[in-house]
Amino acid sequence: MTAEAGLPELRLDDPALALDPYPVYAALREAAPVVAEAGGERRILTRHAEVSAAFRDRRLGRIFWHRYRHEDLGIPPGEPAWNDPRLAGIAAFERWELLALEPPEHTRLRRLVMEAFTPRAVEALRERVATLAEHLLAEAIAAGGDRIALVTGYAEPFSLTVICDLLGIPESERDLLVPLSHRIVAIYEPGVRGERAADADAAATTLRELILALVRERRRRPADDLLGALVAARVDGEGLTDDQVAATAMVLLMAGHEATVNATGNGIAALAAHPAEWARIVSGTVDPRIAVEEVLRYDPPLQLFERWVLEPGVTIGGTELPVGARVAMLLGSANRDPRRFPEPDRFRVERGDAGHVAFGGGIHFCLGAPLARLEIETTLRLLAARLPDLALADAPERRGGLQFRGFARLDLAAPRGPGRAASSLSR
Ligand code: HEM
Repeated sequence: MTAEAGLPELRLDDPALALDPYPVYAALREAAPVVAEAGGERRILTRHAEVSAAFRDRRLGRIFWHRYRHEDLGIPPGEPAWNDPRLAGIAAFERWELLALEPPEHTRLRRLVMEAFTPRAVEALRERVATLAEHLLAEAIAAGGDRIALVTGYAEPFSLTVICDLLGIPESERDLLVPLSHRIVAIYEPGVRGERAADADAAATTLRELILALVRERRRRPADDLLGALVAARVDGEGLTDDQVAATAMVLLMAGHEATVNATGNGIAALAAHPAEWARIVSGTVDPRIAVEEVLRYDPPLQLFERWVLEPGVTIGGTELPVGARVAMLLGSANRDPRRFPEPDRFRVERGDAGHVAFGGGIHFCLGAPLARLEIETTLRLLAARLPDLALADAPERRGGLQFRGFARLDLAAPRGPGRAASSLSR
């Protein structure tokens, strides 16, 4: 940590930080509520109160280009990478992506999407989602011998199938989606340029064309799925254009599995490392619905979100930030802030405190939070019933990058004894 403008510093693209961020966060959080980005422009918020307030502060925006030109703020063209007009595929997607809009466009689009994607619609999926999870776990156990590939064999197909079924993506297209989505979301990692950015762009073009074809088909032949509902949604008599439906479907598809898969992996790793906590879920002392909140608080799958200062007079943690300043909110650090959560480094499934910021806050609060909660709860319930002796088969492998924190590989030890596995999973 060195002092620049009197603030401690953090290097956000340090691979070592991505592997084990919490001790670094703790030291910085105690040092200051706002720290500087080493080798970058951002001011980084470390504490719960400041992160929470920043999510809700309308003087901060996810974007600035609806109000200012790059040159007005001294921001180099093509910053951030996901707003670079030379990346045509990314730009076409971001033009109508909810997270790249601010009021009034955001308000109108979000209302239309909410129309089609209500918490009630999600709750109605409960049984179907549970049946799917059971089926996929049985397949993962059957496929894996002495181990269960939790991420690739269960969590990925689970979240992907749930969101694809909801949207109405044909089975024949689904194998393409996970690799395309992984390539696209690379654009949001700090410092991505050159070949990786071009690859994200090519993947965005491919996915957008695939989705646009489905949207046009829904216009010709209405269907009883979320794509059909988005095509039909009306607020004040007005609906969505093809580009808007496609961008919305893309963000739902990507957000709909990337974060949930990572949250599942992070949660299962935490539970495997805390057998007494797992035992509380298995015994029914703590309901999985309650435990979900601690999973999301303790090791959130999305660690970093940004805002731009849009108005003068913004002071955070005693530091005045000029218009055009870029602010990074460290969700994982806010979730471990002892000012908000007593004994924050202790993983306690009965805590059930939904005051964490894993889903953000304010006008961009996660639209998929009810679905994500349902999926994680379903997995915990299922594993408690089917794998009460939860244990990792060996050391899991983290995926790199700080923005998306999860595991590339996390294998569980398969249930011992063929009789037990077969009988417990027969339906
Ligand atoms: C555990 C899983 C998830 C986590 C931790 C998560 C987290 C978040 C966060 C932090 C934001 C706000 C970002 C910001 O304000 O800058 C957000 C927004 C969003 N999320 Fe999620 N998410 C998850 C799952 C999902 C799912 C399953 C879906 C959809 C099916 C989804 C769809 C969205 C959308 C559309 C937005 C943008 C909302 C807007 O801009 O109005 N998310 N999510």
